[in-house]
Amino acid sequence: MTLFVIGKPIKHSLSPIIHNFWIKKYKLGLEYKKMEVDLESLPTLVEKVRKGEITGLNITLPYKKNIISYLDEISPSAKDIGAINTVFLKKKKVFGENTDGLGFTRSLEKKKKFNFFHKSIYVLGAGGASYGIISELINRKVKKIYIANRTKQKAIQLINYFKNKDRNIKLELAHWEALRPTSDVDLIINTTSFGMSKKETLRINTKNLRNTSILVDIIYSPKETNLIRLFKKEGFFCMNGLSMLVEQAAVSFELWFSISLSNKDIEEVKKICEESY
Ligand code: ATR
Repeated sequence: MTLFVIGKPIKHSLSPIIHNFWIKKYKLGLEYKKMEVDLESLPTLVEKVRKGEITGLNITLPYKKNIISYLDEISPSAKDIGAINTVFLKKKKVFGENTDGLGFTRSLEKKKKFNFFHKSIYVLGAGGASYGIISELINRKVKKIYIANRTKQKAIQLINYFKNKDRNIKLELAHWEALRPTSDVDLIINTTSFGMSKKETLRINTKNLRNTSILVDIIYSPKETNLIRLFKKEGFFCMNGLSMLVEQAAVSFELWFSISLSNKDIEEVKKICEESY
């Protein structure tokens, strides 16, 4: 039996490297492959999961939303996010989960012993990745979330979306034109794709920040975005998106195989990934 990561394009996915390492380590006798598919293939693939011909799927861009209509059930947090990245058979039903947010929070908890409770977070971006992370930040009971996005309307839409779920959540619009986090901000997260090209530099005014503030850029290629470089230069703790990538994969793996991965398992894979690009 096989597992797949499906999307379009899929060429650059690191997921096969990650999962095949753990599959071999735990002697599961399976294979995890990447498959570039068109939208029309989604129902057939879900059917194969239903029949047990496919053990599990990871869904990546651009199908994280499209897949939902073919599934029997999705988790509450996946419903919150409106996107799925993990599919498997659970009690004879094809079930969808989103492990991105948990992957993000776990990565920072482990790497920096960061406790999200009552923290103020400044989020750049209002796309799919942002919804996943914000949903989990809210679960962790952060104090306040600021949202800045190039397209202001999308930031407002995101704020209204989460406020409709819970009026007490403190979400505030921040200006994209002048990215200047206030002194209460503990953590800055770039969830946008701006910075993936080495020519792109996201500029954030750090004047008000305390030196304990942390920057996470969820981009992992390049390994060091210009934003990370600038923050490092100023002495801030920084992390790229590789830890989140591996942690979200670990959550998927745990769901498929009920195997809880150790920190050693995670670190070994991270090293292999780092050496692969
Ligand atoms: P994902 O699912 O990876 O989050 P997405 O839904 O397309 O992808 O969202 C991409 C995010 O990156 C958005 O916040 C987008 O801003 P807009 O809402 O204004 O499009 C942001 N983004 C992409 N390219 C950008 C650029 N050149 N400058 C600033 N923000 C950019």
